[in-house]
Amino acid sequence: MEALEAILTRRSTRRFKNKIPTRELLEKVIEAGRYAPSGSNSQSTHFIVITDEDTLSTLEELVKQEFSKMEVAEDTYVSIKNSINAAKSGQYVFHYGAPVFIVTANRRGYGNAMADSACALENMMIAANALDLGSCWINQLHWLDENETIRNFMIEKGLAEDETITGGLILGYPEKGVPERNPLERKGNPVTWVD
Ligand SMILES: Cc1cc2nc3c(=O)[nH]c(=O)nc-3n(C[C@H](O)[C@H](O)[C@H](O)COP(=O)(O)O)c2cc1C
Repeated sequence: MEALEAILTRRSTRRFKNKIPTRELLEKVIEAGRYAPSGSNSQSTHFIVITDEDTLSTLEELVKQEFSKMEVAEDTYVSIKNSINAAKSGQYVFHYGAPVFIVTANRRGYGNAMADSACALENMMIAANALDLGSCWINQLHWLDENETIRNFMIEKGLAEDETITGGLILGYPEKGVPERNPLERKGNPVTWVD
């Protein structure tokens, strides 16, 4: 698939086959993430690739449990508020049953941590589309980056003590065989030309 087409047809996938993509495909997606640009060429984005089913279900349970313990305040960000409410009412969905979850982390206190990881995540989503894989950014672990239970679990799985969880990506074969590719209409993202 041509690069611009892969960018313009990328959509979030939330229904997957219960089958881990081949190692070759996973490595291609991860390589695309690793080849993203980084501030001052720091190359400090860390990719924790979870394909183990038990690890994923334990993580799902822990995330649900930790969100359900939290309280919504007036200034709670809408995504976090939705996660807390969903967890409390038993409606919480974490990874949509995807067989692979790639967690991104970066050095704590590094000013470009989020920006570098976002470049890596977007590269991986575009690569996934080009390879007929479905993907979706999952931010739940980022919201729980300061949560002791989640941090300890992720440290067991390879997160360094001095790293912050910047985001995550679910990945898999789309339920329908190929990813949804109809772009959503752009009503936001304004453009100002200064000619
Ligand atoms: C920073 C960021 C965080 C996101 N977090 C989540 C998430 O936690 N769960 C989820 O289902 N989708 C998440 N998404 C996916 C968005 O909901 C999705 O990109 C948006 O609705 C546009 O749809 P599209 O990706 O199909 O174009 C996230 C996307 C971004 C860029």
